Amino acid sequence: MSVESQKKAAAEEAARHIVDGAVVGLGTGSTANYFIQALANRKLNVTCIPTSKASRELGEKLGLKMGSLETHPYIDVTVDGADEFDADFRLIKGGGGAMLREKLVASSSRFMVVIADQSKQVKTLGKFPLPIEVSMFGVKATAWKIERAFEFLKLKGQMTLRVRDGKPFVTESGNAIIDCALGAIPDPDKLDGILNNTPGVIETGLFIGICGVVYLASDKGVKELKRA
Ligand code: 5RP
Repeated sequence: MSVESQKKAAAEEAARHIVDGAVVGLGTGSTANYFIQALANRKLNVTCIPTSKASRELGEKLGLKMGSLETHPYIDVTVDGADEFDADFRLIKGGGGAMLREKLVASSSRFMVVIADQSKQVKTLGKFPLPIEVSMFGVKATAWKIERAFEFLKLKGQMTLRVRDGKPFVTESGNAIIDCALGAIPDPDKLDGILNNTPGVIETGLFIGICGVVYLASDKGVKELKRA
């Protein structure tokens, strides 16, 4: 099965579990797009809370009813993709730059379900560069503080300000993103704690203790994995 077919299969499996009347958080990215399509195909009476303009537009185009975190602060289930997940269902997200809203929506949900192709499952997080969303004000000063945090944790890596069309990438919340290629992250919980205490850091791409279920697709089909 190709990677795209795996993403689609995982998305369709997640959509099969959504019940009528649910409030559903919509993730962002190519796998999440397959879910939005699969959910629309089911023609249920659900209200969707999108995590980005792109997911809102796709959902609206497909006829899904949209709400927001303001109208629906309590969400039944959020279904989203991920850049990586480990055995404890800790995630790296933010490849698409939507992780602040993705984390706000997922953490407001009774369940967060990740849909993934086989390539997203890792033993140790960190092969995918960790995105860190930072305030536009004082980006260099924040980057310097983040670098000190990495040194303290004996992590080495390349930090790159995300750029789009030759200009700093701006998130939907008006912030910048620094992508940090760290290699293996032996203690993601500690790293996340330190980064979240760093002035200028708005949010990290580490999702810890949020995801409860993963629909993982491979050549053999889709497996439902539950966090221990
Ligand atoms: C966007 C994300 C995406 O879920 C992540 O990048 C995976 O994307 P894709 O499903 O396209 O592989 O975190 O911010």
